[in-house]
Amino acid sequence: MTIKDIFESMDYGPAPESAVEALAWLADRGGIAGHFINGKWDALRDDFPSNNPATGEKLAGVTKGTAEEVAKAVAAARKAQPKWAKDGAARARVLYAIARLMQKNARLLAVMETLDNGKPIRESRDIDIPLAIRHFYHHAGFAQLMDAEMPDAEPLGVCGQIIPWNFPLLMLAWKIAPALAMGNTVVLKPAEYTSLSAMIFAEICTAAGVPPGVVNIITGDGETGAELVAADVDKIAFTGSTAVGRIIREQTAGSGKALSLELGGKSPYIVFEDADIDSAVEGLVDAIWFNSGQVCCAGSRLLVQEGIADRFYAKLRTRMDGLRIGDGLDKCIDVGAIVDPVQLAQIKAMVDANTAGETYQCAAPKTELRGCFYPPTLITGLAPSDTLMQEEIFGPVLVATTFRTPAEAIEIANNTRYGLAASVWTENINLALDIAPKLVSGIVWVNATNLMDAAAGFGGVRESGFGREGGWEGLMGYTKPKIKSGGKSAKVTAPTPFTTQDGTPADPLDRTAKLYIGGKQARPDGGYSQPVFDKSGKLLGHASIANRKDLRNAIEANAAAKGWSTSTGHLRAQILYYVGENLSARADEFATRIKQLTGGRTGSKEVDDAISWLFTWAAWADKHDGAAKGVPIRGVALAMPEPVGNIAILTDDTRPLMGLIEPLAPALAMGNRVTAVASHAFPLAATDFYQVLETSDLPAGVANILTGSHTELAPHMAAHANIDAVWSFSTADVSKVVEAKSTSNIKRTWVNHRQSRSWPSSIWRAQSTEIKTIWFPYGE
Ligand code: NAI
Repeated sequence: MTIKDIFESMDYGPAPESAVEALAWLADRGGIAGHFINGKWDALRDDFPSNNPATGEKLAGVTKGTAEEVAKAVAAARKAQPKWAKDGAARARVLYAIARLMQKNARLLAVMETLDNGKPIRESRDIDIPLAIRHFYHHAGFAQLMDAEMPDAEPLGVCGQIIPWNFPLLMLAWKIAPALAMGNTVVLKPAEYTSLSAMIFAEICTAAGVPPGVVNIITGDGETGAELVAADVDKIAFTGSTAVGRIIREQTAGSGKALSLELGGKSPYIVFEDADIDSAVEGLVDAIWFNSGQVCCAGSRLLVQEGIADRFYAKLRTRMDGLRIGDGLDKCIDVGAIVDPVQLAQIKAMVDANTAGETYQCAAPKTELRGCFYPPTLITGLAPSDTLMQEEIFGPVLVATTFRTPAEAIEIANNTRYGLAASVWTENINLALDIAPKLVSGIVWVNATNLMDAAAGFGGVRESGFGREGGWEGLMGYTKPKIKSGGKSAKVTAPTPFTTQDGTPADPLDRTAKLYIGGKQARPDGGYSQPVFDKSGKLLGHASIANRKDLRNAIEANAAAKGWSTSTGHLRAQILYYVGENLSARADEFATRIKQLTGGRTGSKEVDDAISWLFTWAAWADKHDGAAKGVPIRGVALAMPEPVGNIAILTDDTRPLMGLIEPLAPALAMGNRVTAVASHAFPLAATDFYQVLETSDLPAGVANILTGSHTELAPHMAAHANIDAVWSFSTADVSKVVEAKSTSNIKRTWVNHRQSRSWPSSIWRAQSTEIKTIWFPYGE
């Protein structure tokens, strides 16, 4: 055989990694994975097996956690938390020690991960474990800096964390490192298929000096996960399927528990005709065959520009034929096993049910494989609406279609209910920079794919979930603002409207304040209004009662005003200053109105606060900058704040004017379009305020103001597909409905009934924006 032959066949002999040490490690512990509670192993039972998917052999028995065991772990975490939160520098030392010990045990961790999950050792050794270690190093730094750099932040308390099986140790690191860095304690549940690397991690914690109770691990399946969601925790952080994410959102609604959801995806991989085609083909190997496509951000939807499609597919098929499939412990393997027969059956069923397009499967030998293997698959010629173009397969299956123009590429790319990641391949920097902001996704890779780092935010929009992991933005998910001494907590109970003694209107004129929709005053669809009295029973006027149709009209007006979201911060600043000035010119009138509505309370302080707040957000409109993250590759990760989109707001019922202005100003400043429902009890200051908006150059439809019942409107707001986030400053009952009904499109919610009103500006800015992480090649 000549060297040329070898290069052409790429025929390698096997290069097996030894499993001896990992198997001995398991045997030494009785072959059972179970709970690690309060620094000790607890309840080790062989309730169900954990198998090696490459061979089908049992690796260990796993304990299925019960409600009592979960409660015990949560109690241990609760007890340990106050002391752990005290000293950031001490936490940093412990996190550094964890990172160093993971490094020392890297090979054991990598082999265990491959045995348990089936992924190639090349991936676990070179990607999963190093990235997990980097996460602890990086977050050790955040622990060190927390006291000095985040003086307004404090830990949430006890975090329940539920992770999937596709990156068992890496997901553990993504969850545990930021939580511990910010002074929380954790109870983590690994996925039922892959609990073993978490066992090694637990022992590393002990060796690193993690105090008992700070890290607790509970093994088990979905039922154990549900017990953790129901337990006395302050937050649930979940990564997994969209279906389970929905269940958890519903379960936690109204509980006051913080929640982050990192769910599925159907991420587009867009190749323009001027791309470096060989690089783009090689990129696809990482995009869809990395971890057998069992990756939430997998580039699973290939969009190729028509002119190069045939050539591109031909090159791709040739590359597929060179992929080596097999037992991941062989260092020559490119594509390993699927995690479990259940997942394999799901992939097979989805592909077998498809009749559209043309299917090509990898020609690599597969007959001798005993475990859960599925051949790399390419299905071309699909229409954007075909099931396999829309549904997540979570396997090594790439589906493809073509496009003609950049505009069409964007349209197809965004034609999905998900929004996690996207890859753009072009040698034209102008095109890349034009496309990146137009993609609806949390992450964009330019001429790259599947890049992740502890410094860069990771997470999605739409049904891919909410919240970010990694970077400064990821820390938000593990902290809450300190309630400053003297800061008031928002009242939970709303005032009831004043009623007249005899029902006689003091003012015979019909003064019915209309709704404000699309820059115009609009009569309510239902034709109903509510009388509004002052404290002495004098009729002040009527306020319209908005219904579902009015809400729909308002959302349509918001959508039509989308130019606001791409307008410059400078322009938004000018307009907000103008709004503030116009309010200032009518300050006395508003002060009188507030006094009338609230019955004697002076209104001028509230008006002054509103004016000052508008000026503050005019100031912020062009100063909420993003960041350029230093990442350890030849590139840079930009953190670009983008508006959330359409935000619906149920305003604070206790302050007639400020209740509206407080959320409205930051939301508008950051480029969102808003539909706000005014205070139910005191609606007339808000309706007076739209006269200010009318004279302030705010484009029509950017801000709509409705009046009516929060209870009536909340479920429709939460369920509306074109609302991207709902903020509820209303009562606890209303907020609960908002959270529970938000599952229709997994929208962001922000409910405040339990927290102080004196949020720092960083919280308003974070709630008003999505961070898009854009990775560019950069530097040497
Ligand atoms: P899953 O969402 O059921 O499991 C993820 C984790 O949630 C596991 O730890 C599981 O035990 C736990 N869990 C399940 N039901 C729960 C409940 N009711 N309450 C609390 N925790 C619960 O995912 P599964 O069934 O393993 O995979 C199914 C599909 O989910 C995959 O085919 C894929 O489409 C998607 N998936 C997405 C992942 C991602 O990274 N976004 C990761 C894993 C799966």
